[in-house]
Amino acid sequence: MRRREFVQRLPVVASGVFAGAASLSLGACAGVPYLTPTPRPGGLAVDAATLEGSGAAFLRAPDLPRPIFLRLGDDGEAIALLASCTHRGCQPEPVGDRLVCPCHGSEFDLGGAVLQGPADRPLTRYPVTREGDQYVVLLERGGA
Ligand code: FES
Repeated sequence: MRRREFVQRLPVVASGVFAGAASLSLGACAGVPYLTPTPRPGGLAVDAATLEGSGAAFLRAPDLPRPIFLRLGDDGEAIALLASCTHRGCQPEPVGDRLVCPCHGSEFDLGGAVLQGPADRPLTRYPVTREGDQYVVLLERGGA
C-alpha cells in the first residue's frame, strides 16, 4: 500500500478502532441494569426481587449528579454508592470486583474505598434498609 493510499484510509481504520473500544466499554457494564426507583420521603425505593435478580443496578437519582450504584454483597448486605468519582466526577463503572473510572483510571472496591488514584477519597456511601419487598436507599441521612 502506498503512503497516500494509507493516509486516505486512516480515518476509516481509526473509526473502526474507536467503535470497537466503545463496544468494549459498553460490554464491561452491559450486565448492570438502570432502574428508576420510587421516590420515598428521604430516599429511593426499588423492588427487592429485581435487585436480587440482577445483583446490582444503577438507580436513576434525579436530584444527584450521577446515579446510585446499588449492589448486594455476598452476605446479602445492600450497599449504595454515589457513582461519581471523587477525583473529578466521572461515572465509575463496575468491572469485575471493582468500580473503574473511565476518565483518569481511578479504581474503587465495591464498598467504595479507593484502590488506585488519582482519586484520594472513597465514593459517597448511603445507608440502605430492607422494608418489606423493597430496598430503600436513605438519601436524607446523607452520604458518608
Ligand atoms: Fe475519575 Fe478522574 S474523574 S479518575
